[in-house]
Amino acid sequence: MRVLVTGSSGAIGRTVVSGLSSQGHALRGVDRTEADTELTGLLPLGAVVGDVTDPVVAASVVSDVDAVVHLAGHPDEATLPESLASHAHTTAALLDAMVEAGVPRMVFASSNHAVGLSPRTDLLAADARPRPDTFYGVAKVAAEGLLSLYADRFGIAAVALRIGSFLPEPTTVRELSTWLSYGDAVRLVDAALTAPVEGFAAVYGISANSRAWWDLEAGRRLGYEPRDDAEAYADQIGARSEDEGEGAYAGGPFAVMPLGKAI
Ligand SMILES: NC(=O)c1ccc[n+]([C@@H]2O[C@H](COP(=O)([O-])OP(=O)(O)OC[C@H]3O[C@@H](n4cnc5c(N)ncnc54)[C@H](O)[C@@H]3O)[C@@H](O)[C@H]2O)c1
Repeated sequence: MRVLVTGSSGAIGRTVVSGLSSQGHALRGVDRTEADTELTGLLPLGAVVGDVTDPVVAASVVSDVDAVVHLAGHPDEATLPESLASHAHTTAALLDAMVEAGVPRMVFASSNHAVGLSPRTDLLAADARPRPDTFYGVAKVAAEGLLSLYADRFGIAAVALRIGSFLPEPTTVRELSTWLSYGDAVRLVDAALTAPVEGFAAVYGISANSRAWWDLEAGRRLGYEPRDDAEAYADQIGARSEDEGEGAYAGGPFAVMPLGKAI
């Protein structure tokens, strides 16, 4: 497939570009930060420097692709206007450009913080009600709402990946439940790009963790087969005084952090 990856210079972006490229997808990247030579070499359709909140940039980067993987965004708490600009306004600009250009699919990096104030009791299903823990989480819920709206109005296939903790390896007790390995991140995005999808779907982005807090069933229905399990690292992870508090809500530390901390 010909795929646009937004946020291609970021942590998840670089990993996804490298993984999708080896799967045979032809990629274009766009980021506010210039791509280095190694990354540029993996982006045969172009390494564009630009802000995807800008409709002109959005229109130019979606031209002639089959799908958009939207990873551009500030991955942390910020003021409400900053959060909405970073996650909802970028998503809206890209979706408008996709409708105009006839691009049929978006895969979006949502977050577990869209449901972060769900108490940690049973396994959380993908259709759990939105329960954001921060303005960051509110902006992810707003972006998921846009995906649902454009799926229903314009027939765009839209998959929101509620990513847990994307890290080389888990380092805390919470992350034994929320970890998404690099390899599984690529498998998840590839499944969301290529599976038959009608309308809007939300899935959790975690590895096959023995202590998973979130139900992987919706992802498996798209063909996502995670191979890693954070449990392999459990012996290396020491207990911390924060562990109990971080285990009270799905969003962990975000569930109690001050709202609107500046970028
Ligand atoms: N890292 C995680 O564990 C995690 C968990 C849940 C969700 N997410 C989401 O995944 C996405 C990627 O996260 P990351 O960890 O790679 O973050 P990152 O900060 O490493 O990368 C984000 C990239 O997006 C670019 N960017 C930001 N706003 C942009 C804009 N308006 N136009 C163009 N480029 C822009 C940045 O320059 C950066 O290179 C974010 O949307 C984040 O909210 C990440």
